[in-house]
This record gives sequence, structure tokens and C-alpha cells, in this order.
Amino acid sequence: MGTTALVTGANRGIGRSIAEGLAALGACVLVGARIREAADEVVAEIVGSGGLAEPFVVDIADSASVAGAAGRIGDLDILVNNAAIKLEHHPSPPSRASIDDIQATLDTNVIGTIRMIQAMLPALLRSPHPRIVNLSSGLGSLTFATTPGSKYQERPLISYSTSKAALNMVTVLFANEFRETPLRINAVDPGPVNTPMTQGRATRRPIDGAEPVLAAVLIADDGPTGCFFDEQGVVPW
Ligand SMILES: NC(=O)c1ccc[n+]([C@@H]2O[C@H](COP(=O)([O-])OP(=O)(O)OC[C@H]3O[C@@H](n4cnc5c(N)ncnc54)[C@H](OP(=O)(O)O)[C@@H]3O)[C@@H](O)[C@H]2O)c1
Repeated sequence: MGTTALVTGANRGIGRSIAEGLAALGACVLVGARIREAADEVVAEIVGSGGLAEPFVVDIADSASVAGAAGRIGDLDILVNNAAIKLEHHPSPPSRASIDDIQATLDTNVIGTIRMIQAMLPALLRSPHPRIVNLSSGLGSLTFATTPGSKYQERPLISYSTSKAALNMVTVLFANEFRETPLRINAVDPGPVNTPMTQGRATRRPIDGAEPVLAAVLIADDGPTGCFFDEQGVVPW
């Protein structure tokens, strides 16, 4: 593959599986994590399996950290914006939601992702085949949220769902800006996966959630951009 890939939040969960999957495809993986030791553990595991990986410390919610990361990046072909937070563990009425939680969630999941894309674009645009994948969620689909009887309509999580709906728009707007270039940027719903984020409420493995993300990374230069996929295909906005 001969490519370099950066995965944010790659120290655990789906991000770790994405990093392992990219390494198995032959990419040199920059294992993004807020804490160096957390990245080192994943790097050791990938290198021990014969892959290429390096730790890459970055906190996407911290503009100084992202600016520092932009200064350290060399070649970059693939950016997977996986890092996110979900502060609501149970559905609750939007009328009683915590403004602080909403603000923190938007700051990481939306602003943090935009910050990373802007910071890494100069390096990505030097690549002949740049790819960006944003980890979204079916909870960010306005179609699902407005479909009577949908499981998503019955799960009001205003911080998280709003952040993923906004991330979908971010995906489309960047895709529109770079549509005439080889850059392909898409949003992917990994589906429900058992990770610290879901705390036992899902049964699929992180590797299952990584698969549609890897498929979006492998999209051709003339393939779709500004789209929303899951493991079954196109997700309605
Ligand atoms: N799990 C699911 O069922 C599911 C379903 C749909 C979509 N998703 C999406 O898939 C992605 C991965 O989810 P997951 O279930 O693997 O979550 P997770 O287990 O909670 O892992 C989240 C990762 O993001 C990192 N992170 C959080 N804030 C960060 C920041 N400010 N800067 C850098 N890294 C940060 C965490 O690092 P720390 O270890 O330092 O906290 C961790 O590595 C997320 O975007 C999530 O919204 C997940």
C-alpha cells in the first residue's frame, strides 16, 4: 500500500481496530491518542505483528495540541477522524439536557474534527490519493430521527446525535470544496459495537465496526465523496 494513515482515538475501541486493519493492509499507521503510553501499547502490538506504526499524540479538543500535531506530520494519505465522546449514557428529554454536556460534545466531535481536517489538509493534499473518513452514527441521521417507530426516534441523545448530524454536514461541505480533486471524504456509521462508549449495550466487535471504515478508505479516486455509509451501503441523511 505504501501509505501513511492517521487514526485519532486509536488507543481503544473501534479506532484501535481501524489502526490494526490499516496496518494489515500495509499502511504505516500513526496511532493517535491523547496519552503517549496509550498509543505505545497499540504500536507495540502492531509492530509485533509485523506491521508499521508510530505513536502520534493529539487531543482534538485542544487547538494547541492539534497545531503541534500539524507541525509534526510528514507524509499523510489517510485521515480517520474516529475520536469522539458520548457523555449521555441513557436517552433523556432534550428539554432537560445539560448545556455543558452539549457544548463539550460539540467541541470534541464537531469542532475537534474540523480542526483536525484543517490541520492535516496541507499534508493530505500532497498525497496522490488522499482519503478522509469521519466516524458518524445512525443517531446523526435526520431521516431515522423522523421515521415513526424507528429505534433512533425513541433514543433522544441530544448532545451526541446533534454532534453526528453536524459531522455529516461537515463531511458534505468538505467534499463539495474538494470534489474536483482526488480527495475523497465520507462519513461512516460503524454500527453498534461493544466498546467503552457503549458499555455493554452492543454486541458487535470493534473489528466489525472497523470494516465499513476500511472500505471507505479504499474508495477509488473517482469513487463517491460526501456520502454516508454503513456496512450495508448508503445511510439516509
Ligand atoms: N461504539 C459504537 O457502537 C459506535 C456506534 C456509532 C458510532 N461510533 C463512533 O465510532 C467512534 C469510535 O467509538 P468507540 O465506540 O470506539 O469509542 P470509545 O471506545 O469511547 O473510544 C473513543 C476514542 O476517542 C478518544 N478521544 C476522545 N476524546 C478525544 C480527544 N479530545 N482527542 C483525542 N482522542 C479523543 C478516546 O481516547 P481516551 O482513551 O483518551 O479517552 C478513545 O480512544 C466514535 O466516533 C463514535 O462516535 C461508535
